[in-house]
Amino acid sequence: MQQLLDHQQTQRHTWATGDYDAMMRTEGLYAVGARLSRAAEVREGDTVLDVACGTGNATIPAAQAGGRVTGLDLTPELLAVARQRADQAGVEVELQEGDAEQLPFDDASFDVALSSFGCMFAPRHEIAAGELARVLRPGGRLGVVAWTPEGAMGDFFRTAAPHMPAPPPFVDPPLAWGQEDDVRELFEGTGLTLRFARESWTITHDSVEAAVECYTTLFGPLATARQLAEEEGRWPAFEADLTALFERLDPSSGPVVEFPAEYLVVLGAKERT
Ligand SMILES: C[S@@+](CC[C@H](N)C(=O)[O-])C[C@H]1O[C@@H](n2cnc3c(N)ncnc32)[C@H](O)[C@@H]1O
Repeated sequence: MQQLLDHQQTQRHTWATGDYDAMMRTEGLYAVGARLSRAAEVREGDTVLDVACGTGNATIPAAQAGGRVTGLDLTPELLAVARQRADQAGVEVELQEGDAEQLPFDDASFDVALSSFGCMFAPRHEIAAGELARVLRPGGRLGVVAWTPEGAMGDFFRTAAPHMPAPPPFVDPPLAWGQEDDVRELFEGTGLTLRFARESWTITHDSVEAAVECYTTLFGPLATARQLAEEEGRWPAFEADLTALFERLDPSSGPVVEFPAEYLVVLGAKERT
């Protein structure tokens, strides 16, 4: 239990490091939250929960679609940005600090449960999946997106992993949420019928150097890893591996780095009892 609380504290610090919102804007990734809200067919009056909502990627478009939306996340600093973004967008949302593995809501309390690149970072996937299913009402809809291991972000996380602190043994690999078979297993016995699609978002950076700089200064997990690597004299090797990654992802000789980043879309319907 103490190990879990320590891990949560590390996660909060990690995700608050850098500038997640700036990275999302640089890469245009807020479009994916809007895609997810549309795919889950959020409608006027739906009660919607966005789990591990961060800065509100899916929360805000779901509210713009007329949903009564609650965004939940472990990291208060990201919720504060979500609040600003919701205010700027002129939508009302509930934002709440909490854990994807222990959702502070009654059974069957939402019409729609969403998570964009979110529950993949909860340490124990089966528990997080069980919670998503539990809070959905009969007939309710699930919408999750997660990076696939085969896609560019799979390559990205595998390249970075040797340069990052090893996760505790109870942490499931985030990319498992990007594989149909694993996700099917996670939801076994929860009363959800699932369907899957693979989509991608094209990520563009001005140069290889700009891509390395973006991830290692703005994206919390890599920004914290870079700080540690610099302190320990390991940064040149880390930087070289990331440089090789972006050269591999876009082998064209031009300065701009552009590559498709594939993600799995998981859509579910909870059986009516
Ligand atoms: C890659 S970000 C995704 C944020 C947002 N959904 C998006 O699409 O931009 C991962 C998020 O998961 C949150 N997170 C990590 N572990 C969590 C947990 N156990 N419970 C709730 N949120 C968690 C982090 O704070 C972070 O906001």
